[in-house]
Amino acid sequence: MNVRIIYQYLEFLKLSGIQDIFVSGQEKNNQNESVKADLEDLAGKYVNCTDCELCENRIKLVYGEGNPQSKLMIISEGPGNEENLTGRPFVGAAGKLLTKMLMAINIERKDIYITNVVKCRPPGNRDPYPEEVQACSHILQEQIDIIQPKLLLILGKVAAESLLKQSQSLGAYRKMKNYYQSIRAFVTYHPAALLRNSEWKKPAWIDLQNLQKEYEKIL
Ligand code: URA
Repeated sequence: MNVRIIYQYLEFLKLSGIQDIFVSGQEKNNQNESVKADLEDLAGKYVNCTDCELCENRIKLVYGEGNPQSKLMIISEGPGNEENLTGRPFVGAAGKLLTKMLMAINIERKDIYITNVVKCRPPGNRDPYPEEVQACSHILQEQIDIIQPKLLLILGKVAAESLLKQSQSLGAYRKMKNYYQSIRAFVTYHPAALLRNSEWKKPAWIDLQNLQKEYEKIL
């Protein structure tokens, strides 16, 4: 069954005053498979997307990957060269650092979901233009609607500005209590920035520990 229809029905039950529904392990597995299938359908729908000029240099669309029922979604800026070649997010040097950063707070990549605000590589790794972010935003919205994360980790200023719609320094975003569509959103340095500037690793570590505290509360 289509997951969006299930969510609509659950919303309806919630509005009718039903707060808790108990599901068996088997039903949970079925739900997981169904969410996975929905995401795969959507990813397939966009492989030849031509909604913005980023499609001109695309080798592979980088849709996103991870646990479709994750409570935590990581959202970054856009694919780089290795991601464009493989179709997978964060597989290059920044990705290796991201994996280590997550392991330091007891999170395995397979347990969470990772994606970007734009799904095709901006040429030369430039920042995506606002119109490209806008053209891609419905894909991210569909991912969020399906996965329904309870926490977001936003990597870097470009992704933060795209999602939070304010013009702040990264330092200011880090200290603010951010929400994206009522979902609590932590902002920290992009791992590529940490590779260039190791003095940001200490504040990034503080951000990760704050994220870990919230994540462990909702597990
Ligand atoms: N940088 C990003 O912002 N996203 C990726 O997927 C890889 C590198």
